[in-house]
Amino acid sequence: MKYTLAFDVYGTLINTSGVFNSLEKLIGEKATPFVDTWRNKQLEYSFRRGLMNKYTDFSVCTENALEFCCNFYKIELSKSQKAALMNEYTILPAFPDVETGLKKLKEAGHTLIAFSNGSANAISKLLVNAEIMDSFDGIVSVEDVKMFKPSPLVYEHFNKKTNSAKSDSWLISSNPFDVIGAISYGMRSVWVQRSKDSVFDPWGIEPTAKIKDITELASKLKQ
Ligand code: 2OP
Repeated sequence: MKYTLAFDVYGTLINTSGVFNSLEKLIGEKATPFVDTWRNKQLEYSFRRGLMNKYTDFSVCTENALEFCCNFYKIELSKSQKAALMNEYTILPAFPDVETGLKKLKEAGHTLIAFSNGSANAISKLLVNAEIMDSFDGIVSVEDVKMFKPSPLVYEHFNKKTNSAKSDSWLISSNPFDVIGAISYGMRSVWVQRSKDSVFDPWGIEPTAKIKDITELASKLKQ
């Protein structure tokens, strides 16, 4: 069976810890709580904007969350330091397993799509810089429907844009909110448990399958 695979980007294909290294140089040991709060606030802002019907480019959620963290942790960063941190988000590396894993999936005949809250431009730049753009058959961004994950509207848009059905498409993500959103919509979904410390939300909605990295995916799809 050939499937259309929707790959979440930040934290699934792309390792966002690169931002941590730059931050640590700037603020030392506060970088660990800071980067966690930054990611959580970035997502919180996307959830709130979705509920409020106040869509904006995902990079604005990232920028507003950075500002929140500077205020919350009482850290003074200059405009250029903030701009440099924001730029980090555009040049992050892929996880080491991604290229090999995607190659196996392409050889198996699946359609590979990068599917993200990020704009198509931002995702394209990110994947080109991470040297994995050639693995993909396309990019679908939530910007087309001015809504964010995990609204069912974005997964529906994915199926429409890729001319796929719920039954022949999978969402691949390290983010439990994304996995639960896709399954609630009606797609199957694989949780990429990038860290052994990651905890899946106890909602009683389980991932269709669980993997540690993308190289394990091809065999899961055969089951
Ligand atoms: C995405 O790339 C936010 O990780 C999420 O859509």
